This record gives sequence, structure tokens and C-alpha cells, in this order.
Amino acid sequence: MCGIIGVVGRGDETLDVVLDGLSTLEYRGYDSAGVALSNGTLDVVKRSGELSNLREAIDAGESVPGGSVGIGHTRWSTHGPPTDANAHPHTDESGRVAVVHNGIIENYRALRDELEAEGVAFESETDTEVVPHLVARALDEGLEPEAAVRDAVERLDGSYAIAVVVAGEERVFAARNDSPLVLGVAEDATYLGSDVPAFLEHTRDVVYLDDGEFAVLSADGWRVTDADGGRVEKEVTTVEWSAEQTGKSGYDHFMLKEINEQPTALRQGLSGRLDELAGRVTVEELSDVETPGRVEFVACGTSYHAALFGVEALRAADIPAQAFLASEYATGPAPVRDDTLVVGVTQSGETADTLSALREARARGAETLAVTNVVDSSAARECDHVLYIRSGPEIGVAATKTFSSQLVALTLFTATLAERGGEDARELVAALRDLPNHLQHVLDESRAADVVEEYLDSEAYFFIGRGPAFPVALEGALKFKEITYEHAEGFASGELKHGPLALVTANTPVFAVVTGDDERARKTIGNVKEVEARDAPVVAVTDGASDVERYADDVLEIPETHPRTAPVLTNAQLQLVAYHMANRLGRAIDKPRNLAKSVTVE
Ligand code: F6R
Repeated sequence: MCGIIGVVGRGDETLDVVLDGLSTLEYRGYDSAGVALSNGTLDVVKRSGELSNLREAIDAGESVPGGSVGIGHTRWSTHGPPTDANAHPHTDESGRVAVVHNGIIENYRALRDELEAEGVAFESETDTEVVPHLVARALDEGLEPEAAVRDAVERLDGSYAIAVVVAGEERVFAARNDSPLVLGVAEDATYLGSDVPAFLEHTRDVVYLDDGEFAVLSADGWRVTDADGGRVEKEVTTVEWSAEQTGKSGYDHFMLKEINEQPTALRQGLSGRLDELAGRVTVEELSDVETPGRVEFVACGTSYHAALFGVEALRAADIPAQAFLASEYATGPAPVRDDTLVVGVTQSGETADTLSALREARARGAETLAVTNVVDSSAARECDHVLYIRSGPEIGVAATKTFSSQLVALTLFTATLAERGGEDARELVAALRDLPNHLQHVLDESRAADVVEEYLDSEAYFFIGRGPAFPVALEGALKFKEITYEHAEGFASGELKHGPLALVTANTPVFAVVTGDDERARKTIGNVKEVEARDAPVVAVTDGASDVERYADDVLEIPETHPRTAPVLTNAQLQLVAYHMANRLGRAIDKPRNLAKSVTVE
């Protein structure tokens, strides 16, 4: 997830408009930033690190870009580490074309090979750099700038929001597929951003681009066309956000914004990693990971719940696996064997307990894999292998979209190993392909806000599940207690009768996660009946496959899906339960008391 901006029509103010816009987009990525301004020729300045590094370079007069057409970018790395060379904008060899991009170009390797075979020299390791070279080639072939950009975009597979400037052109060209892009329209200037805050200071009138659309921006207007070049009539919407909501793209809290970003996060996490025709997963980063005899996960908090999900998935693939709380793993001797792979699951890649467990594992001779969100984080650098979950930055202290992305990344990891063992992944691949849309449906239709109204004054809140639903129950309870400050516990549903049932009363709602209609579901329904007999209200989180609804006071539904993708959907319902309850109780949702986003002490 990166942030892009473009502007035409602001004359001498162009540089300031681009830089100020980038500062509102820094939440989308902050490992490098850059700008390109056009005024006959192109001036490009870019720096690794936060936006302040770029501003310092410009303020120090090292290089001051000038021009009345501008684009800018703030980066969250997906291909290549955060260096000056990998920062956007990227240019062609002659410096006529500059491009900023958010997303992942899945066929960049083939395009790069093709261009290199023609003698094009690349300067970065990014997927994006193929775009300016393709545009330049089309210009050399005699196409007009607009046609040249369109020609290049037609060659791209994957997700992209792209903005292009061509030297000598008083226009910005833009295209969108599966990555957000919105125009800001004013009388004498036109803007472009990954998100409305990028230009909200200048105009509240916006046009949301849809997938497959192409836009041309100039000082006196804008035009949107479809993939075939046909004009598209777009509606101009006026945004009414308050100043407080602006940085959160109109949401009241970052947590709610991030919950709603999950379909996009999953698309990014899956991009280029599914071969739908062959019904296989294709995760390049895992190609040199040898099939382990045993997997040990180390993780903390929410990431530990993702690790438990990984164990369950590997068990189904017949690979012995165990999850350790990282803080416990590091203090005792790690039971590593020659064929053990130790997987650190850590969204930040900086959690001290997890890093120390990974170091312990390495010291004992284990191969290590980091499953993380942050390119070049300590975990990414120190492990033998890295699998990026590609969620984009998460600001709310309570992990939401990174958990969903971890579940998907671990599903891809497990499926990779299972396929090597001969498992047919066709159904799973189809379910993963549909997962972002299913998740969108859950977010759009959730009744969580209504359901919490029934239980505002309860004594405690319990969450139960079995098999893959057990980590969801644990995570549902953690999220709930973390942001509501109410007592919440997650249990394996079969464990209730071994103790926790003593706590169950008419004043302790039980959220029961039940999907499918197999033996596990039937056994959990047995446990639901046990709590019902103690007068506890039951909220079933279910795909409707079983008859759990008969025993429930309320139902939160998810669409039917594969057993391994269902936890992403049931968990989203519980995220919303926690969010709406905390909101009703007036809690500090984005910064819960006593907690920090990244815990760098043991
Ligand atoms: C809870 C939460 C924490 C983190 C934990 C590990 O919402 O965010 O429990 O999951 O501190 O953090 P990472 O994944 O960065 O290692």
C-alpha cells in the first residue's frame, strides 16, 4: 500500500501542493518518498526514509524540482528494499516519462525480461519501473503521450493505481485497477490521490475512479474513459468530512478504517500468488524454502492466534506443527531438530519477544522464516526467508487487517507445503480468489452494531470455537478486551465444561463461532446447548450450514466458503463486535490504555 498524488493547474505552488498532499498520505507508507515535476523537462527528487528526508533534501537546495504539473509518492515496499533507487517516481532512460504506482504488477518479470532483451537498462528492483520504459518505447514508436500511456497500461497484469507525467505535457495521466484512485476537481486545477485527504485542503469535490478506468487531468478539466477508450460519465461527489475525520478518510477511527481496508489488503496479499488456471498457489518467496519435517511458530498476541491457525492448517496437511508464545519459547530450550523450520509471525517485525525467540531458534540451528508486514524489519533481515503479508501500514493499536493478512499468508504457506505433498488446492484457490469479495459482503451487511446494543451491561463476554474457529474465538476475545476494557475470554468450546462453565450466567453473552456442518460444528453446538441451559445469551457467528441458529439469540452471518478461509470472515464479524461495543462505551479505540503498537521490550 503506497500513497500517490498528482496535480495540474497550481503553477508555482505545485511542489508545495504535492509535498503537503504526501504528508497526508504518509499513513499509507513511509519508507521512501519522491516527486516529479514537469515543465518542458522533468525534475525528479526522491529519498529513502520518511517524507521529512525528501523535504530536507529539497529545503537544503540539493535539488529543487520546478514545474506546473506534478506527481508524488510515498512508499510501502513490496518489491525491493527501501532505497533511493527503489523510491518512486521511476523514469525511463531518457528522463521523458515519470511514473508513480501503488499496487503490484504481477507480470513485471516477463515485461522486464522483454525490455532488457531490447537493451533497456533498469535502475531499480521494483515492479513499477517497467511502466516508464513501456511508455517511452510507445512514444518512440510514434504514439501520442495519452495513447502511449494507455498502450503501456494495457500490458500490465495485477493491481495498480498509476499516475504518469510526460515532459512537455501539461497533463497527468492516470489508470486504476484494484488499487484506490480518486480525482479532486476544482475550477482551475485538477488533483489525483490514492485517498481524498491528499487534496482535501484544496477541494471537496471528488470523482472516484473504478477498476479499468483511465483518466486525463489538465488545469481546465478532466476526462475519464474505459478500457476501450469510450468516454465514461462520472458523478462528482462532495465530501463532508470533519477535520478530525480527514486523516481517517472519513471514518471515526483508524481501527474502523483498517477493518474496512481488509478486502484491499487481502487482494494485495494474494496478488500474483494464485494460479487460478492450474488451481495452485505460486508464492515466489517460498520457492527456496525446503519442505520441513516439523514447523514451530513463534509469535505474540494477535500474531500468536494467527500462528495457532497455521498449526491447524498444517495439521490438515499432515505436517507436524506447534505454536509457541514467543516469550515462553525464548526462555526455555527450543526443541529444534534438523528438519525444523521456525516461523516468526510478527506484523511489525520488531516485537522483542518474537525476535529473541527467532534468534534462539537460529542459535540452535533451525532454518527461520519471517511472516511479516514490514519490508526490511528486523525479523525480515534476520530470518533465512521472508513471506510478506502486504497489508500496508496499520495505525490502530489493535491489529485488524494485519491479522486477516496473516491468516491468508499462512494459508498460502500451508498450501505451498501441502501441494508439494500432492494435495489438490483447486477449491482452496477458488475460495481465496473470492475471499476479498466475501469479506466486503460481511463488512457491508454486518449486524454487529445492532447486536452489541443487546449486551452493553453484561458482566463478561465469552467467545468459543473449535478447530480453526478456536483461534478466532481467542482473537475475538483479545480484540474485545483490548479496546472495550471489559472482561472477555476465548475458549476452545470443548474446554468449557472443564472449568469456565462455572462463570457462565444469564449475564455473560457467549459468541459461538460455528462454520460448516461437520463433527466439529456439531460438537460446538453441543457446547452451545450447555451454555444455553445456563441461561447465557448466545450469538452465533456462522455460515448457516449447521442448525446452530436454532439455539442462538442473535446471529452474525458469513457467506459459505472453504473451511480454511471461513476464519477470516468470522473474525471480521468479531472485529466489528469489539469495535462497536468499544465505541458505545466511549473508549480510546485507536490507542487503548497501557498498550503500544510495537512492543520492543521483553
Ligand atoms: C493486539 C495486537 C498485539 C500484537 C502483538 C504482536 O491487537 O496487536 O497483540 O499482535 O504485540 O505484534 P507483532 O505482530 O508486531 O509481532
